[in-house]
Amino acid sequence: MRIISTLTEWQQLRQSLDLKLTVGFVPTMGNLHAGHASLLELARAQNDIVVLSIFVNPTQFNDPQDYQSYPRTHEADLALAEKLNVDYVFMPEKSSLYPDNYTYQVSETEISQYQEGAYRPGHFMGMLTVVLKLLLLVQAQRAYFGEKDHQQLQLIRGLVKAFFLNVDIVACPIVRESTGLALSSRNSLLTAVERTQAEHFAQIFQQITLPCADIIQQLTRAGIQVDYVEDRDNRRCAAVKVGRIRLIDNHSLDQV
Ligand code: PAJ
Repeated sequence: MRIISTLTEWQQLRQSLDLKLTVGFVPTMGNLHAGHASLLELARAQNDIVVLSIFVNPTQFNDPQDYQSYPRTHEADLALAEKLNVDYVFMPEKSSLYPDNYTYQVSETEISQYQEGAYRPGHFMGMLTVVLKLLLLVQAQRAYFGEKDHQQLQLIRGLVKAFFLNVDIVACPIVRESTGLALSSRNSLLTAVERTQAEHFAQIFQQITLPCADIIQQLTRAGIQVDYVEDRDNRRCAAVKVGRIRLIDNHSLDQV
């Protein structure tokens, strides 16, 4: 496994790769868990070369406190990547990914307006901008994203279509703990009491045959602050706050 921390090194390496080999790309912000691992495993199974990027992207954090406290666990991340047979870990510097100082930004005007977009101003613009940069740099045949961030996945599919990017976006199912709680890097920031509340959120939210209003009522009664619980395009999405930590989740309504 090779770790690449400069843009020039990556660009030289990418040029030297055999064009006949397929590249699978998994972009992340690190603090890798079993959710990320599932993306890496699928990428490993479907491609000759697996590229993982780790970059805590400052432009997608609307809350500076969230950016500061975002868990950074590089050693453990690299050990897991090695175990999963990742070929290249790309860990670029902020300044090299943003030579324009973020004066150029990718914005979307429909999907990005509701749910996460409404509660996290600028988040999707930062996310789309960095994903476009990374996809252009990595030039993978396939890129892997989790259903966990459903709105993000929809926006990335739209980005690829809008800008004629030559990459297949592969969606991966949500990986959950046995309690039902969806794995997330931010879970590691929960206190013991908050973790119980987070599990409670997952359990209440998974009752997909109940109307959203009932779910909201149960969550509120459990002392969980609800940002939204909403059905759209056959998917139920939710965001709540447990202490300072914001949690999101979603379920398909196809089987209901
Ligand atoms: P990050 O939160 O690190 O997530 C990286 C990828 O892992 C995303 O595609 C996300 O949906 C997926 N993922 C996270 N938790 C998961 C789970 N429990 N089950 C399945 N997949 C899961 O999402 C980002 O980073 C950033 O926005 C990024 C796309 C890297 C751009 O900065």
